[in-house]
Amino acid sequence: MLLKNTFLFLCVAALLGSCISDENSPGLEYMPDMYRSPAIEAYVDYGMDPYHFGESQVDSLNSRMSARKPAQGSIAYMGDQMAFGMPYPYPNTTEGYEAAGAGLTSPLPTTQANIEEGQEIYEIMCIHCHGEEGKGNGTISKNGHIEGIPSYSEKLKDLPEGNMYHSIQYGKGLMGSHASQLSQKERWQVIQYVQVLQNGGTMPEFDENGNVMEPKADAATDAAEPDADDTTQG
Ligand code: HEC
Repeated sequence: MLLKNTFLFLCVAALLGSCISDENSPGLEYMPDMYRSPAIEAYVDYGMDPYHFGESQVDSLNSRMSARKPAQGSIAYMGDQMAFGMPYPYPNTTEGYEAAGAGLTSPLPTTQANIEEGQEIYEIMCIHCHGEEGKGNGTISKNGHIEGIPSYSEKLKDLPEGNMYHSIQYGKGLMGSHASQLSQKERWQVIQYVQVLQNGGTMPEFDENGNVMEPKADAATDAAEPDADDTTQG
């Protein structure tokens, strides 16, 4: 009987003993290493001593975040993709739009692979508004939900890529920003495909490595050359 009572008493004492007045504390912990790693870890509140929970808590640090945001102006390290990790320098203003049109060019070489990637993105994210041929007659436009989407090969025929990028970044008129859906590289890829549509959907000619052959301008000059030579010589 006495033994049983003592045992009961010990149990209750152990139970109560694990209660601590701090409501944030789980009380007495058996082998705290099992719950709290001694190694520094992200998202752990270092206001607390990981070994002595509740005992040596530094209140001033207690509610501070331990995983910090990167310092302002930090640029993600992206190895050879660095050109696609830079912050966008042009503000979302008319001046910013114009400056992007005049000064922003793609860091991505035009290749068959990039255009094809761009086409894939276009068919997923843009076609329902801009239409298969980029004439502004996608399904949403036909339904009458969004009207007046400009045609790439007409109204937007000479739109510089910097303006396109700016409009994908911030949105324009009824077109929302696509910055959260497309990485910088994907934006330039889809722009390469939009440029094909600006050109009436005609793909450029590629060499055997999938690089764009020099534009027809050269062919035109070649054709014009004999004439020019003729005139100079004659
Ligand atoms: C919700 C329909 C919609 C979607 C989706 C959409 N656009 Fe647009 N887009 C528009 C409209 C409307 C305009 C005309 C905006 C204006 O000038 O007011 C436009 C304009 C543009 C322009 C011309 C911007 C300029 O600077 O004049 C480009 C380039 C463009 N879109 C590319 C894209 C690409 C690429 C995608 C897919 C990633 C896309 N759009 C998705 C509706 C859309």
